Amino acid sequence: MSENRLRLGVNIDHVATVRNARGGVYPDPLRAATLAEQAGADGITAHLREDRRHISDADIDGLMEVLSVPLNFEMAATPEMQQIALRHKPHAVCIVPEKREERTTEGGLEVAREENKLAHFIAPLRDAGCRVSIFIAADRRQIEAAHRIGAEVIELHTGAYCDAHAEGKLDEAAQELEGLRDMSAFAHSLGLEVHAGHGLTYDTVKPVAAFPEVRELNIGHFLIGESIFLGMTPAIQEMRRLMDEARG
Ligand code: PXP
Repeated sequence: MSENRLRLGVNIDHVATVRNARGGVYPDPLRAATLAEQAGADGITAHLREDRRHISDADIDGLMEVLSVPLNFEMAATPEMQQIALRHKPHAVCIVPEKREERTTEGGLEVAREENKLAHFIAPLRDAGCRVSIFIAADRRQIEAAHRIGAEVIELHTGAYCDAHAEGKLDEAAQELEGLRDMSAFAHSLGLEVHAGHGLTYDTVKPVAAFPEVRELNIGHFLIGESIFLGMTPAIQEMRRLMDEARG
């Protein structure tokens, strides 16, 4: 596979959100994951939140069994989640900040202030063979701290860029994009693998996909929404096409 090819991780959390709205078993996130895989997803992302508002423990058990592409297990830095990750040993673990009252992961992790604690937290995950990724804002201090604690991957939070774009604040979006571009290059220069995600849509994906240092995008909410209109396979294929086009 070409070094230049950008991986697409499909986040299936919101299939579980729709399922949980009725408390039954439909739609099934495992079926979505399998379909996403067949449609060209290079990996599946699922966030087991402390309050289990979408993905459940049973979903993670099932994903570990059925997937043939890597699972990127998103979790907060809590002892409970660490235990679950160590039991499953997924391909990748992405550490995210989590607040009970938020609707989605609003910001990046505060690594610089929690450096020692996080270094101890991720060490057993790395020892178990998981690739540890840290979800952070495009901020030099946070990137340096992620590097120091021994993370192999950082995922840059693209939410501020996408929000500014959606609100028509194009100067602000351009500024956010510039920060993401500079910090992708900076993180890469430290030897970190760079991923990006949050809030990406067909309208916002291409400039981020064009950053040569970015190796993977993780996209969920928009793709699951678009699947209602297009079906999951065409929705994912269109994202894949735009990513490839941006990559040239
Ligand atoms: N990456 C991370 C670390 C996330 O927490 C999320 C949201 O769960 C995403 C990517 C995907 O964001 P979205 O669902 O807005 O595409």
